[in-house]
Amino acid sequence: MRNFNYSIPTTILFGKNKIEEIIPEIKKYGSRVLLCYGGGSIKKIGIYDKLLALFKENSVYFVELAGIKPNPRVSSVREGIALCREHKLDFILAVGGGSVIDASKAIAAGVPYEGDVWDFMIGKATVVDPLPLASVLTLAATGSEMNGSAVISNDETQDKRPMGDPALRPVFSVLDPEYTYSVNKWHSAAGTTDIMSHIFEAYFTPDSGVLVQDLMSEALMSVCIKYGRQAIDEPKNYEARANLMWAGTLAINGLISYGKIPGDWATHMIEHEVSAIYDLTHGAGLAILFPVWMDYVLDADNAWRFAQMARNVWGVKLADDMAAAKAGIGEVGKFFKSLDMPSTLKDVNIDGTHISVMAEKATIFGPVGSLKKLYSKDIEEILKRAL
Ligand code: NZQ
Ligand code: ZN
Repeated sequence: MRNFNYSIPTTILFGKNKIEEIIPEIKKYGSRVLLCYGGGSIKKIGIYDKLLALFKENSVYFVELAGIKPNPRVSSVREGIALCREHKLDFILAVGGGSVIDASKAIAAGVPYEGDVWDFMIGKATVVDPLPLASVLTLAATGSEMNGSAVISNDETQDKRPMGDPALRPVFSVLDPEYTYSVNKWHSAAGTTDIMSHIFEAYFTPDSGVLVQDLMSEALMSVCIKYGRQAIDEPKNYEARANLMWAGTLAINGLISYGKIPGDWATHMIEHEVSAIYDLTHGAGLAILFPVWMDYVLDADNAWRFAQMARNVWGVKLADDMAAAKAGIGEVGKFFKSLDMPSTLKDVNIDGTHISVMAEKATIFGPVGSLKKLYSKDIEEILKRAL
């Protein structure tokens, strides 16, 4: 196990009606709030009215940034930065899924920065003194509610790039599983796929001798398997929604990566290029790409790790590591299919036209992946096999 410092400072307010507790939490950090949200789901499920009442009762000044889209655009981020400056706002409350939280993080970083906020996405700027931000999560998926990462899209250049800094972790996040009852079948399935994929990214590194992290990861995978389909069939099943929500947070808050190389992340980098061009739902892209990536990188040296997952998570009984590994990869594909996720690019009407562009862009800062380094030609091959 490698050395590490453990620090995951976000306060989690988990459970029914926990939104009631946010005013004192907000007041620890600020008094003039930018309220960020997406296309209106928060109005349909009553969070918006609840927040407005809380703000009114407690004389909290706020300004709204609405309409943040899935695969959040840098144009929304720029709008949010301008609002913060114009109204001298000192706190950001993101209410929604990963897209809203990610846009809010980029706004938080961008307000004190003099240049254009896209500089953070191209490594030209580092985060210094961001505004404090918090989230009210409405979709179990990205884990953005407890990590310092954001992924932002640029509509003009068709780029989608990550940025991150520990200072961008939300200071608190409200996780009320009932808020996710209204998430439709597609986004529920994509959310579970994303959670599962974050666990895979953390799990599939070259490290060995990290049984704590491995068994925690396998437990979280088992949670996705147990509740993923149930949340689709019974959207108001509290147990399923609650377990998925907490699994989603723990999958990518750093906990299962401490003491290891912090993940592989090649599949995410490839998927980001696909959703940058085709505006595909992130989880759907991962459902297509992960089994293909697993099959591509599997070799005699790492087969033991795939076999371990196969045996501990999927109950594969084969004694030979390579045979067990292949069976486990088959189970991963079947699991995503059982959630009604697509399994080929063709399923989502994507052909081979932009494969070389996507492969080049995914490796623009060098090869990706830690289990196996992937170069542009590897990514081309993976995308071709995913067609
Ligand atoms: O815009 P609204 O009306 O809110 O509707 C959203 C949106 O259409 C809807 N939704 C959210 N909560 C709902 C709801 N509908 C009904 N009831 C609710 N309670 O769901 C749709 C998708 O929302 P979005 O926020 O885009 O989904 P998700 O949370 O999956 O976020 C995806 C984005 O996060 C990035 C992805 O690349 C993508 O851009 N990621 C961020 C990460 C991070 N910050 O650590 C890591 C991830 O790997 C990922 O890359
Ligand atoms: Zn993801």
